[in-house]
Parts: sequence; structure tokens; C-alpha cells
Amino acid sequence: MNYMTNPAPEVSNDIMPINGTDYIELYVSNSKQAAYYYKAAFGFHSVAYSGLETGNQESESYVVGQDKIRLVFTSPLHSNSIVGKHIDKHGDGVKVNALWVDDATQAYEDAISRGAKHYMAPTVEKDEHGQIVRSGIYTYGEVVHVFVERKDYTGVFMPGYRKWEPRFEAEPTGLKYVDHMVGNVELGNMNKWVKFYEDVMGFKQILSFDDKDISTEYTALMSKVMSNGNGKIKFPINEPAEGKKKSQVDEYLEFYEGEGVQHVAMATDNIIATVTALRARGVEFLDIPETYYEALLDRVGEIDEDLAPLKDLGILVDRDEDGYLLQIFTKTVNPRPTMFFEIIQRKGANSFGKGNFKALFEAIEREQELRGTL
Ligand code: FE2
Repeated sequence: MNYMTNPAPEVSNDIMPINGTDYIELYVSNSKQAAYYYKAAFGFHSVAYSGLETGNQESESYVVGQDKIRLVFTSPLHSNSIVGKHIDKHGDGVKVNALWVDDATQAYEDAISRGAKHYMAPTVEKDEHGQIVRSGIYTYGEVVHVFVERKDYTGVFMPGYRKWEPRFEAEPTGLKYVDHMVGNVELGNMNKWVKFYEDVMGFKQILSFDDKDISTEYTALMSKVMSNGNGKIKFPINEPAEGKKKSQVDEYLEFYEGEGVQHVAMATDNIIATVTALRARGVEFLDIPETYYEALLDRVGEIDEDLAPLKDLGILVDRDEDGYLLQIFTKTVNPRPTMFFEIIQRKGANSFGKGNFKALFEAIEREQELRGTL
């Protein structure tokens, strides 16, 4: 079996200290409606706004938050814009994975000196609440990492934004923080991006899965999981593998027209309550066959939760040497079958649900079959 867990990375020689995920920015065709959807359906609250009223002539952005998660939805205000071209090529998708650092200038200079591709030189942005320094580098596809230094800033988000206080707010659903963010890359590119995260960012590979671990009768993929020094940032990277039919990674690459972010996993302390709320508000999840639950407890052993609500909601369970985890995957959230979300609750487990891959991919294949893309 090609399943392995490496020891926790050394923090003392962390060449790229990162405090956590600062925000995830999606380029979308309708930022106003996207923000409403993520508020109403996922329970995010209103944080900040940038647009014509704040002097932004190029684009409109809404920032929503829930506990430590911050999402930004940006749409262009004119044709032929950078944002608009991104949407035309990819559909809605993640453009920026922003990383919270103490020194954005140092992070940028170190990353560039270690071979990163430039996206944004260190830039100081100021308003009455102080200043923020941002810089950025490219990762796979057109996705970028923006380093955000906000120690001298007290405003709601960053200069250029004002507080967004609409009358409508939704109840939170218990989403706490970004657990991991997964990238899909072209066949043969996984190891290139593994090396990028090792060499440029000082990440360590904590897990790897090959096509024997992640395969069904029809489709296969390979994945390696990269983690930063303090373990707060985890980036699994998938590439397609040869299968009888088109894998979900191939489908993504075809419809996204390139490499990009496949899913963002958001953590909760109570997955049953969170998924009950999300389902009640219209979030759609992959359907899991009842047979999955027949053998579940034999596979994962005793768990704190009752089986009935897990089965009713379609929540998956897996165990590793450190504990267990509960997880569920939304259907794709865009017209193109590209991006989706995962909801995860960790009860000791540090892995990613390897025992669920088969059930999960068969569920995805049923969706692909309906789309005629399997
Ligand atoms: Fe995941």
C-alpha cells in the first residue's frame, strides 16, 4: 500500500512562516448574487464591499466571513478586463489563495529568490485604519498566492473596502476555518507542484495516494498532500491517472480549461448540525448509497455519532492511526462541473478520508454519467 504519513514538519527551520489562510478570492460572473448565495445557503455574514461607491472603477467585490473563513467574490464592471477574461476562460473559480504572514515583503522576496513566478510586487495600501502590505506569486494554472501582512491594520478587511452592512444577515452554520484547498493539475504536473511547494514555500509532503488507492472500476487519480511548517495550511494536489473512462480530474481540466482549485474544505465542530442547516438552506451534496453505511462501523470502529443522522445526511466517515473524521462533499457549485466544497469534522484524524475515496468517486461518477462526461 502506498499510503504514508510523515512525521510532523520541523517548525524551527520554517523558511516560509504562515499564520493561516487570510482569504480566498473567487472571480465570479455576479459577485452580488454569489455573496447572497454564500450568506443565505452557507451562513456567511457580510464583511466588506468594494465597488463604484468606494472609488473602484474596475470591479465589484463582496467579502463574507464565518469564524476564521473569509471569502471574496469579485466581478468586473467592464468588458475586456483581467477578471472578465478569467471568467470567460474558466467560469467562476478561485483566483487567490491569500496567506496571512508577518512580513509580506520578506515572503515575496524569499519566494522569488527560490524560483516563484511573480504576480504582485510588495505593495503598501493605506486608509484611516492603518496599512496593509500585500505581495503575490503564481502557483498552478492562473491561481495565485497573495501574502497579506495586516499587523498595522484595524479595519474590517483592507484599504479600498468599506464595511458592508446590509439589512439581510443569515444565521451561521458552524463553519470554522479552511481545513485544506485542493488543486487539480495536468497529467505529469503533480510532482512539479510538489517540488514548488517544497522548494519555494518550505512545505513538506505529508501524504501520497497513487492510482491504486484512488480508483474505481472506471476512473483513477493520484494525489500528494503538501503542508506548511505549522500544519495550518494543507494543499493536496491531484493529477489524473489512466482509467477506463474519463476521471473527475480530466473532467475538471476540460471544463475549467486548465489547472485550478477543485475544492475548498471547511471545518466544523458539529458536522451533523452544520450539514442539517446547509441542506435545509438548499446546499446540494453528493448522494451516498445506503450500502455504504452497512459496512461502515466494521471499517471505522466505534464513533461518537449515531449512524442514523449520518446516513440520513450522507456524511462519510474514515479512520486513520490518529483518530477519525467525518466529511461530506457538495455537488459542483458552478454551471461548469468544476469547483465544489467539502465540509469536514476532524476527531483526531489528520488525513483526508482515503477510505471514502471509492464511495466518493463512485458518487461523482454517477453525476458525471448524468452530464455525459464519464
Ligand atoms: Fe478534501
